[in-house]
Amino acid sequence: MDYTVNLKKILSKKQFAFLQSITASARAVMSPELFNHSVGTFNYCFKMADRFILTGANSGFKDCNSTGGIKDFTSAGGFGLCANAMSGCRLKDCTNTSAGGRNRHEKIIPALCFDLAVAAILHDYGKIFSIEELKDIAVKQKLRISDFELNCEPILHSCIAPFLLKRDFKIKKKDVLNSVRIHTTGSLKMSITDKILYIADKIEETRDYEGVGKLRHLSLEDINLCLLEVYKSNIIYVIKGNNVLHPDTAKIWNYIHGGLKHAT
Ligand SMILES: [Fe+2]
Repeated sequence: MDYTVNLKKILSKKQFAFLQSITASARAVMSPELFNHSVGTFNYCFKMADRFILTGANSGFKDCNSTGGIKDFTSAGGFGLCANAMSGCRLKDCTNTSAGGRNRHEKIIPALCFDLAVAAILHDYGKIFSIEELKDIAVKQKLRISDFELNCEPILHSCIAPFLLKRDFKIKKKDVLNSVRIHTTGSLKMSITDKILYIADKIEETRDYEGVGKLRHLSLEDINLCLLEVYKSNIIYVIKGNNVLHPDTAKIWNYIHGGLKHAT
């Protein structure tokens, strides 16, 4: 499915034009492999968004009427359904109206989709720079990056990405910058778009490794269980490669696993 067709219906003209513009920029500066991966991630993000944002079912939304409720893992077991979905509501056709008379979901869905689209296309933008260039930027700009992150090559591009996206694309929205920042490591608090980007990056259609088919199947069934399995798979991959784990990995793993007491 061509998700850009659906996005054109959902986004404003200005948002869609911006998306086209950053996609053209990404194509111009990225290697063909990196651009294909970015487009693959974008497509997989919207395959999942189609399931978890546009339909609302099993979305992990604690309360689809509140953007503040989108950060989940807060309900019992960490697998809460959208409150309205449980009573038959689907985000795409919910008739609830805000005080201003406008369907709240008409505001939330375009915003989520726009954030996700921008983050997906640009999540690996930092990879067009060399490790030396990224380190140089981090030091000169005095970015808030730990020594571990500064010296961990596989994740450095995501740590510098918020600065690069602000500088080169004038992107200021915190949700977008945060999704890109944590797409390599995960985080204790992940929004629905954070989770979709994290998962899509690891299992989009150009990825080919043992078990990816099972993860893809799970990604359209249960986003939180899929996050757990993708996180596990990533930890195993890092260890098998004799690479170092981010210091927060155990905390995040425990938190995703439901061990909230261990994650303080
Ligand atoms: Fe990626």
